Amino acid sequence: MENIVPWGRSYEEYIAMFDLTDSELKLDILGCGDGPAGFNAELTRRGGHIISADPIYAFGAAQIKSRILTTYETVMTQMRKNQADYIWEAIPSVEELGRVRMSAMDAFLSDYETGKSEGRYIAAELPSLPFESGKFDIALSSHFLFLYSNHLSAEFHLQALKEMLRVARQVRVFPLLTLAGTRSPHVSFIMQLIEKLGFSTEIKRVPYEFQRGGNEMLLIQSV
Ligand SMILES: C[S@@+](CC[C@H](N)C(=O)[O-])C[C@H]1O[C@@H](n2cnc3c(N)ncnc32)[C@H](O)[C@@H]1O
Repeated sequence: MENIVPWGRSYEEYIAMFDLTDSELKLDILGCGDGPAGFNAELTRRGGHIISADPIYAFGAAQIKSRILTTYETVMTQMRKNQADYIWEAIPSVEELGRVRMSAMDAFLSDYETGKSEGRYIAAELPSLPFESGKFDIALSSHFLFLYSNHLSAEFHLQALKEMLRVARQVRVFPLLTLAGTRSPHVSFIMQLIEKLGFSTEIKRVPYEFQRGGNEMLLIQSV
């Protein structure tokens, strides 16, 4: 837990990052690496069907909350330092970013214990998911795959995406950038390998850009 920096995006940000339509929000959705994001809590409140899988769900609400509070200032200091790497439009300032993220994480924390007992927050770690094949319509990865390309190999990405495609008929990954703000070196290589496995891949522009240049998702589905 001491290496984890929990930082969760909001329901609205998920919709924009993955360009999710109202009819897609009615489908069975899996969020991989959702961490303390507010998407599961809010989509469930609106009657949607979502399960989130993340290794931090091995911890209790109190532990996650205390980690959020301990790391909050460090993240904010980092954001102030790297302000120029972000586009301050939808979120106009670092202070507003802090409010948006804390409110998303509060929504997560208020829902977490109930969600866990309902099986909506599952402790799991890619490249392995504890779900039967074809259980979901869409599997999402927000700010996990590609973002940490300096730490996670192309082989890890391939295995993780194959596993997501085993449990869902469509996969969406956002962003395609690494933490350094440049296109992940794995993207084109992974697209070629995934296509060889018989899936179609497409890079789609989305109505979300916070990390400068981060306005595209990878969409993978069976042909
Ligand atoms: C930067 S956070 C993104 C949280 C959320 N998806 C969002 O966009 O707000 C990355 C998340 O990936 C999770 N993670 C780390 N290793 C993972 C793995 N092997 N499989 C699935 N999730 C993992 C972390 O616990 C963390 O919650």
